[in-house]
Amino acid sequence: MVRILSIESTCDETAAAVVTDSLEVLGAVVASQDNLHQRFGGVVPEIASRAHVERILPVIDEALRKAGVRLGELDAVAVANRPGLVGSLLVGLCAAKALCVATGLPLIAVNHLQAHVYACKIASGEDVFPCVGLIVSGGHTNLYRCDGPTDFTPLGGTIDDAAGEAFDKVGSLLGLPFPGGPNVARLAASGDRTAIRFPRPMLDDPSRLAFSFSGLKTAVRYEIAGPGGDPAGVELPEQRRADIAASFEEAVVDCLIGKSELALRQTGFDTLCVGGGVAANGRLRERLEAAAAEHGHRLYIPPMSLCTDNAVMGAIAIERFRAGKFESLDLDVHPGLERVGA
Ligand code: KG4
Ligand code: ZN
Repeated sequence: MVRILSIESTCDETAAAVVTDSLEVLGAVVASQDNLHQRFGGVVPEIASRAHVERILPVIDEALRKAGVRLGELDAVAVANRPGLVGSLLVGLCAAKALCVATGLPLIAVNHLQAHVYACKIASGEDVFPCVGLIVSGGHTNLYRCDGPTDFTPLGGTIDDAAGEAFDKVGSLLGLPFPGGPNVARLAASGDRTAIRFPRPMLDDPSRLAFSFSGLKTAVRYEIAGPGGDPAGVELPEQRRADIAASFEEAVVDCLIGKSELALRQTGFDTLCVGGGVAANGRLRERLEAAAAEHGHRLYIPPMSLCTDNAVMGAIAIERFRAGKFESLDLDVHPGLERVGA
């Protein structure tokens, strides 16, 4: 049995897991930093990297302890080195390299976005490739043509905010705690999603696989406080807040579904894999399932714990392990999206 220690620190979760070549999870830990970023209404990169430094070793220790595996029993160390916040990425990479130097274990690089799609394979136990990958998180809203686990071609993405970022900002406009996504979703559950017709940017343009959520966020702001008004000073009745949340959520979901269906038509693929924190959204899951049933394509969405950032999805490293693709100890971080197909 091959055992890999996977390390994830691309954004604001410090995570480690021990996984096997049969994609079994022996032990996994995620330390969330939500409480540290809450009062700022978004992830503060400097705070994130400092918190990773404090947590990374205890998190790795705990994952090994849960797995009942000693360092000497591992076969490789994998680390997500792209894309993400540069300071956050560096902490995970330095920890992984230090372990490799100390133990002589080989180092494997993980592309965090490819790992999000791979979570669909881990969760389902099925071969999900080739597929269209939709990655919707706080930092990304992208569509990929995924010919294989590490063979991705970008099809399109957001031209401004990510969908999760829009959820988080709308959450703060509605006075909800960070991260806004789950809280907006909770409030939306008691709202009328047809109450306000928010814009669906780009949706009516079938020539572009692109998203834009910045104008939608502004439309919500105007709905709450009017042009130029300050949403902080506005007290809305509870039902109206719920209606705004539900109508906003529906607009985002319409955009995500419309472009995913377009990507499936353009690629001719019959499988859609969804990953990233926003894939935890109940209404998105419900609508994706309805669209898959209507158009007859396969749909994979991992359980919530594998949608938000975690180290289990780093089990994609098994693919590189099998191919003998190891890294030298001068491996660097790549914060941006370039070379996503690498
Ligand atoms: O993938 P993730 O854990 O971290 C990265 O951004 O890489 O995604 C976090 C994002 C946040 O913006 C959060 O608000 C959003 O996912 N999110 C949700 C839900 N749960 C988390 N958005 C909408 N509905 C949810 N239920
Ligand atoms: Zn992520």
